[in-house]
Amino acid sequence: MATYHLVTPSTRGIGLALSRHLLSTTPSSTHIVATHRPTSSPDTVRKTILEPLPNSNETDKRLHLLPLDFTDEATITNSIQTELPRLIKGRDGHLTRAYILPGILHPEKTLKSLKAEEMLETFRINTIAPTLILRELMLSGLLPRQPSQPECKLMIMAARVGSVSDNKLGGWYSYRMSKTAVFQLVKTAQIEAERAYGGRVSIMGYHPGTVRTGLSEKFWKGEGEGKFEAKEAVKKMVGVVEEGDRGGKVWDWKGAEVLP
Ligand SMILES: NC(=O)c1ccc[n+]([C@@H]2O[C@H](COP(=O)([O-])OP(=O)(O)OC[C@H]3O[C@@H](n4cnc5c(N)ncnc54)[C@H](OP(=O)(O)O)[C@@H]3O)[C@@H](O)[C@H]2O)c1
Repeated sequence: MATYHLVTPSTRGIGLALSRHLLSTTPSSTHIVATHRPTSSPDTVRKTILEPLPNSNETDKRLHLLPLDFTDEATITNSIQTELPRLIKGRDGHLTRAYILPGILHPEKTLKSLKAEEMLETFRINTIAPTLILRELMLSGLLPRQPSQPECKLMIMAARVGSVSDNKLGGWYSYRMSKTAVFQLVKTAQIEAERAYGGRVSIMGYHPGTVRTGLSEKFWKGEGEGKFEAKEAVKKMVGVVEEGDRGGKVWDWKGAEVLP
């Protein structure tokens, strides 16, 4: 049985490291569907993902690319509701994991530094895009309704700074607020998924620690607890996703719940 894991996005940072990790650690029956902006060249994206991996025809064939821009609803619908089922059902496969990772950061320190356009962009990418991706997955017919179909786990990238109870430092208004909504999203969508799929679909949020990527580079202050290179962060992330039932809540890299 062919299984499919969706990784969105996949061109840099955590998504890139995750695509490589899944291609190197999953069996040959598992395919990885990785998304990139429609303006990026699929050949370049493919080359970048495969570059450090052992050269193999089999790995190349297990990587599939789809164009998707988080700020363009039509591309989300087309990729997730139309192209993804065409790819998976065309090969008699099953979607078993989706890693939904959209996130940008405008690090405002004070209210007076807020710009409405940047706030809107942050909410579009960090909150609305993952919600639309969930909607399109539910509309795609790919989520399992029958007991004979394998379970499907959907992971949405949250962040500890989205936790209201954990907020001790303030700042980062739009990023914090957009990620707070992810806690509510996973809870609400899990309730709907239980009604619609009878426990066969689990929707969780995740906090990866501080990961050295483009998003965090200005705030990276060397090593310490909870700080990871992307390669290490994705190993921990997949471990937490694979462990037990985590639907409706947000979890950190230790596998501990992050309270809202
Ligand atoms: N890094 C951390 O320490 C950290 C901590 C907690 C949570 N997170 C969360 O983890 C997730 C991944 O973050 P990261 O650190 O990997 O970020 P990153 O290194 O900055 O990567 C950003 C990715 O998003 C893509 N992207 C941005 N805007 C897009 C758009 N409109 N349409 C399609 N793709 C778009 C970029 O594509 P291009 O290459 O085409 O630009 C790139 O692949 C985010 O949700 C972030 O909030 C990160």
